[in-house]
Amino acid sequence: MKIDIFTLFPEWFGWLSSQRHVANVLATGSTIECVDFRRDTPLTAGQVDDTPFGGGAGMVLRVDVLEASLRARYGVDPVQLRERRRVVALAPGGRLLDEQLVGELAAEPELTLLCGRYEGFDERILEHFASDVVSIGRYVLSGGELAAMVICDAVLRKLPGALGDERSAAEESFSDALEGNPEYPHYTRPAEHRGWRVPEVLLSGHHERIASWRRERSRERGASPPGPREGADSGDTG
Ligand code: ADE
Repeated sequence: MKIDIFTLFPEWFGWLSSQRHVANVLATGSTIECVDFRRDTPLTAGQVDDTPFGGGAGMVLRVDVLEASLRARYGVDPVQLRERRRVVALAPGGRLLDEQLVGELAAEPELTLLCGRYEGFDERILEHFASDVVSIGRYVLSGGELAAMVICDAVLRKLPGALGDERSAAEESFSDALEGNPEYPHYTRPAEHRGWRVPEVLLSGHHERIASWRRERSRERGASPPGPREGADSGDTG
């Protein structure tokens, strides 16, 4: 998979590329390349944003700047680009990222991720250049870079060679093997700590009983998503 990330902070992505499962996939021929859209701005002094029409706080990324950058990279009108590859703009109000969308993106041979900053994108970028607008959650980050890293991490770990053991991906949370439910609980040594015992079934060596116990726990977790932990301070002062 070839991933291009349009960002004002290309140096941030060096860290991502050095993470083991990402590095594993890059070693198989996949790429993450960053494009600094300040580089191709047609405006003076590297300007990329402007004040919003109608007034209000913050700055908005300009449509002409993104167009120049996409054209310089791909040599086509960005309006046509999204017919050839997924062009994903990161914004808090977009389609929520979930396992289904991660699977869709992981099946693409090429992806373009657009990272906004400040107040976000001029709406015409989303309307005319993006094939998708994606959010990693209903909260506001200072820009799309962390969201782009989340997408890269989730997508690349689906590709062959990312994880040391391919079983890790087959039976993980939200997989088909677990009927889309969260993963079952895991335990390791010691079998007892402060009187907290590991469930006996996991020590039994009985593979069928273990598999069915795990399926049940996974279903339970899917049926009742977690609230605050019992005994934990929710921070709610009432
Ligand atoms: N940019 C700012 N906040 C974001 C979010 N929650 N998801 C994706 N992109 C964003």
